[in-house]
Amino acid sequence: MKLGKAELKNNLLLAPLAGYTDAGFRAVAIRHGAALAFSEMVSAKGLLYNGVKTEELLFTSKYEIPCAVQLFGKEPEIFRRAAASPLLEKFNIIDINMGCPVPKIVKNGEGAALMKDKPLVMEIIAAVKDGAPKKTVTAKIRSGFDRVNAPEIAAALEEAGADAVTVHARLRSQFYAGAADYSVIKEVKRSVKIPVAGNGDVRSKDDYLRLREYTGCDLVMIGRAAVGNPRIFGEISGAETDGHAVAVFGEISDATSETGVKTDKKADVLLQLEILAEYCGGHALTVRAKKHIAAYSKGMKNSKIIKILAMGARSIEELKRIAEKYMSADNY
Ligand SMILES: Cc1cc2nc3c(=O)[nH]c(=O)nc-3n(C[C@H](O)[C@H](O)[C@H](O)COP(=O)(O)O)c2cc1C
Repeated sequence: MKLGKAELKNNLLLAPLAGYTDAGFRAVAIRHGAALAFSEMVSAKGLLYNGVKTEELLFTSKYEIPCAVQLFGKEPEIFRRAAASPLLEKFNIIDINMGCPVPKIVKNGEGAALMKDKPLVMEIIAAVKDGAPKKTVTAKIRSGFDRVNAPEIAAALEEAGADAVTVHARLRSQFYAGAADYSVIKEVKRSVKIPVAGNGDVRSKDDYLRLREYTGCDLVMIGRAAVGNPRIFGEISGAETDGHAVAVFGEISDATSETGVKTDKKADVLLQLEILAEYCGGHALTVRAKKHIAAYSKGMKNSKIIKILAMGARSIEELKRIAEKYMSADNY
């Protein structure tokens, strides 16, 4: 399907998750069937004034075709310049964060605070389009800030030229608590013609089907449920084709599940480590990798041992050895 100028192999998206969706994890999600994986949120200002520090967040691997970066900020002019920056040249899609609930961000007028300012939202989209006229421009919103206004904001985004909108169906005031309210996604879908991605609490194929059927959304974005379980993308894409896996990209690991999607946590971890090691060194690398390894180990025979060993690991070699020894399919 088309997302603005970008071509997607299916309608499954990996959500941006700060601290998790690094290039390594994005590659694994795509290998399991996600059509598109968003970067962690990147400061538009940081990109302009602190390029070196931002570069790690902007690293992408060969698996990401097309590739998507998410920016946060509040000043249209900064967004315009960031969108035009050579650092973003390789990205096909620029997504604007209009949903981050973190107090530090919101107090600054960024993230979900933008939901309170429709004219500013429109200016930002117009500025990004102006800075990067050849790119697909999308926005990720919440149901609202402290009242539901997503349908109105989505219509404004469309009018300003956005190519698609993702709706995380919670108010900012809810942070991540309570159930996502899919009726808001349904309303947004009624309010715009651009593709709508539904997001919030999708943890299984059944959740995916329920969200699509109830709201009519075009795409589905999955966040937390993919951490430690990127195979969810294969399970869902298989679901739509009678149990036969589709949309699996590139070479896949050595264990085949019943749906035909090949999965092996060891291979996932090793690929993630390999990609992380290309651009992220020492402490930062092990901190990132440890969180993922702990998540992968959930439900495995040696889950406790894996977690203890991973937390104590000091190098990528040690983490690789843990994956080799404890995370192949015969340890499930
Ligand atoms: C740890 C964490 C980090 C997140 N980081 C971002 C982010 O950088 N940008 C963003 O738009 N949303 C971010 N989100 C929100 C998710 O993208 C998503 O909207 C939310 O988790 C609901 O989807 P889910 O139920 O599938 O996880 C984050 C959520 C979590 C839990």
